Amino acid sequence: MSFRLQPTPPARPNRCQLFGPGSRPAIFEKMAASAADVINLDLEDSVAPSDKDSARENVIKAISDIDWGTKTLSVRINGLDTPYWYRDVVDLMEQAGDRLDQIMIPKVGNAADIYAVDALVTSIEAAKGRSKPITFEVIIESAAGIAHVEDIAAASPRLAAMSLGAADFAASMGMATTGIGGTQANYYMMHEGQKHWSDPWHWAQAAIVAACRTYGVLPVDGPFGDFSDDEGFRAQALRSATLGMVGKWAIHPKQVTLANEVFTPSEEAVAEAREILAAMEEAKAKGEGATVYKGRLVDIASIKQAEVIVRQSEMITGS
Ligand code: COA
Ligand code: MG
Repeated sequence: MSFRLQPTPPARPNRCQLFGPGSRPAIFEKMAASAADVINLDLEDSVAPSDKDSARENVIKAISDIDWGTKTLSVRINGLDTPYWYRDVVDLMEQAGDRLDQIMIPKVGNAADIYAVDALVTSIEAAKGRSKPITFEVIIESAAGIAHVEDIAAASPRLAAMSLGAADFAASMGMATTGIGGTQANYYMMHEGQKHWSDPWHWAQAAIVAACRTYGVLPVDGPFGDFSDDEGFRAQALRSATLGMVGKWAIHPKQVTLANEVFTPSEEAVAEAREILAAMEEAKAKGEGATVYKGRLVDIASIKQAEVIVRQSEMITGS
């Protein structure tokens, strides 16, 4: 038990992050009109090398021109192993309006990657007199990223969120799959002649959640590639939520509703959490540290679990 209190992550809804290629400005208005909490305009892997410059221009213009409402507005820059990223940062920081909230850094491998972007952003912020500090989000999507996940989570006070990027992660780890997230046909155990599928993403997700919770960063599940498979998306998102993640990406607008459903605590869950808190209040009044709620033990740890659900619900509904 540490005497240090666990830091709280940014109090913002982050149930769904909707992505769209910076080279496809026709969908920007639709993204702004969606129910996603976070918008990720992409300059990286959904943009062809020949379109990098025009995509950057489209995104910079759209940041000021479009009404993004109260959404968190983030731009995914290119990786530090490309010739594009520094221009992404410089042009965004010098030319995009104040509406830009966040920069997403893909393929981070260690804390120094974040330090490099932070140095550039901090300098341009000062030079331009930007009053609103830009936050960062990162994608863990390589062997190096997961190996250094704790250092990465601690790398900058700008860091607000961290996602697992399943496709690049699988490639970097040499995993035998081309699927983007979800159940993998060959990842099963046999029991009494029956196949039982397990979750190959579990370890990386749990490592990300632990690093994020230690340093006050929001842990987020990345893409689910098969956007015709709603049940598969829901199953993946439910597992992520169970492990402590607060949201999931949408790579197609139809996934936004699914993510919002899973990552908004249900009325029943909130009601039950409030009942547990009330039961514990009663127990406390009687000088007891534990009591029975619906036939099961609840104790002081249950208060913290229930408070997570109530806090999440209050932040989303604003009440
Ligand atoms: N955000 C908002 N609206 C979107 C959208 C997005 N990401 N992708 C598609 N739409 C719109 C389409 O314009 C279309 O609108 P309409 O009904 O007014 O014509 C509607 O949603 C249905 O689109 P659909 O025809 O099913 O898809 P598509 O073939 O146009 O595009 C993808 C499919 C996957 C190419 C597209 O969704 C996409 O680019 N997704 C994001 C990819 C990305 O950013 N990847 C990087 C992170 S992994
Ligand atoms: Mg990637």
